[in-house]
Amino acid sequence: MLKQLTSLLGEYRKDAILAPLFILVEVAMELLIPYLVSGLIDYGVLGSGGIVYTIKIGALMVFMAIAALAFGALAGRFAARACTGLSANIRDAMFEKITEFSFSNIDHFSSASLITRLTSDVNNVQNAFLMFLRLGLQAPIQLIGATAMAVLISRRLSVIFLAAIPVLAITMVYMMKNGYPRFQEMLKRVDDMNASVQENLNNIRVVKSYVREEYESQKFAEQTKTLQNTQFIAERLILFTLPILQLTIFGCIVAVVWLGGNLVIQKGLELGQLSAFISYISQILISLMFLSMIFLLSVLSRASVTRIQEVLAESPSISDSPSSTLTPNDGSIEFVDASFSYGDSSSNLALHHISLSIKSGETIGIIGGTGSAKSTLVQLLPRLYELSSGKLYVGGNPVEDYSFQALRSAVALVLQKSTLFTGSVRQNLLWGNPNATEEELIHACCIAQIMEFIKTLPNGFDTHVEQGGTNFSGGQKQRLCIARTLLTRPKIIVFDDSTSAVDTTTDSRIHEGIRRELHGTTILIISQRIASLRGADRIIVMENGSICGVGTHEELLTGNAIYREIANLQEKGGLVS
Ligand SMILES: Nc1ncnc2c1ncn2[C@@H]1O[C@H](COP(=O)(O)OP(=O)(O)OP(=O)(O)O)[C@@H](O)[C@H]1O
Ligand SMILES: [Mg+2]
Repeated sequence: MLKQLTSLLGEYRKDAILAPLFILVEVAMELLIPYLVSGLIDYGVLGSGGIVYTIKIGALMVFMAIAALAFGALAGRFAARACTGLSANIRDAMFEKITEFSFSNIDHFSSASLITRLTSDVNNVQNAFLMFLRLGLQAPIQLIGATAMAVLISRRLSVIFLAAIPVLAITMVYMMKNGYPRFQEMLKRVDDMNASVQENLNNIRVVKSYVREEYESQKFAEQTKTLQNTQFIAERLILFTLPILQLTIFGCIVAVVWLGGNLVIQKGLELGQLSAFISYISQILISLMFLSMIFLLSVLSRASVTRIQEVLAESPSISDSPSSTLTPNDGSIEFVDASFSYGDSSSNLALHHISLSIKSGETIGIIGGTGSAKSTLVQLLPRLYELSSGKLYVGGNPVEDYSFQALRSAVALVLQKSTLFTGSVRQNLLWGNPNATEEELIHACCIAQIMEFIKTLPNGFDTHVEQGGTNFSGGQKQRLCIARTLLTRPKIIVFDDSTSAVDTTTDSRIHEGIRRELHGTTILIISQRIASLRGADRIIVMENGSICGVGTHEELLTGNAIYREIANLQEKGGLVS
């Protein structure tokens, strides 16, 4: 596990090695200074050393203190670079992995949990790593060094520490064993809370229009209460362990001062030696505190490391063939006995044994009740989901033989739910084709019937789009998404109910324009409106995940009961023109 994290250090490995090395120099200086102080008191001040000796040692000590400071500062710099670098690299690696995820991988983690993992969990690891770099080597070496120096000064006094070791060891083991599950539980609650925040903010309009603010606030308050409780249970561990450690440590200090003072009175120990001994005890105690902090953070970060690891280890349920140089020959589509299920079970099929052949350049309409799997059918084309059984050919080859790049640039999908990104209108349109010229932008917007609107905007194409496109209406967003897709110039273009929020006149203008301009492109139009589909070469009628009719508008009117029923209903409502 740690191996993978260290490999993520990448170019910061040098900093991660230098930081502890520089700290070692600092530790060496700190270990030597009390020894010099003891000599200074016993030999220079109280003994026969005199002023010259005192000044010499004093100067040496100043030099060592400055060196310790300089090396300490440099070590801090290296450590900061290494740990911020590590967290940046972990985030990049996770993000890259997430972009490879298929829709079902994302369903598996939930997007809220992925956000917590990318933020809080990486922060935990970053903090733990910083602590580890600064103290991981320093604390044990200081502990060993200071203990050795203390034993060198007085064996009798050092025995006191032996008594403290079992207490400290038991406390640390207890903390390690009990901390991990508690922190893991706490992180799960953070996930839940983030999911709730995300859902509420994304749907704030719905919440407000149903006047459900109070209900949602109460629900959120319950969640934060649960998080608070799990946090309290986790933190309680620290609440108990730290005082136990401190009590042991301060007990040692009292015993040393008491016994050491008596030894000085009995002339068993020099005054300078006692002063150095007390300095070493402080160092021992500080390093013990540091060690317990490292333990504590390693417990907390272990839960986070596991969660990061899970994301990095997840294998995308649909794998790319990046080395494939194959590109679709044309816009033909062929489903051969294709079935699909969203879950693992083959019994709960969303699509049942579909066999369908579409010629390149054909315009196909798809109609059917809500939930009849129209969207499911077209999402298989760019391999957003993988078939459960059967075969799907696009442009003459099985979809899995293409690289994502080749397949997805040939199959463009205007999704049912239109999404715009924060930025300008132009930036959003250029997503479709970064090299599109101004004329091409205008042309695409004219076909999508959105150019007139853009002209009325004060900044035209440079108008700012808020997060989620909230400053545009549903129909405006849909038309911008259509224009964006038109710019990709694909071989197959799919409109998944993408004019549902547009009035019928504009709708028919868009479809006329598309058929005129995209001559030679295979066009699939999913719509609930017969008026949008009647010009298609063929119309597919879907019901409960199966195709229950294929033909022209006229053929279906006479030969397909479901189609006729939809047509009759819409005619009564004046929708079929
Ligand atoms: N991500 C998903 N996970 C699990 N089941 C899903 C998922 N998306 C759709 N389904 C299920 O698959 C079936 C077909 O859904 P699909 O979205 O393809 O219908 P549709 O014909 O496009 O409906 P609509 O006209 O309302 O858009 C539905 O029963 C739906 O519950
Ligand atoms: Mg749909």
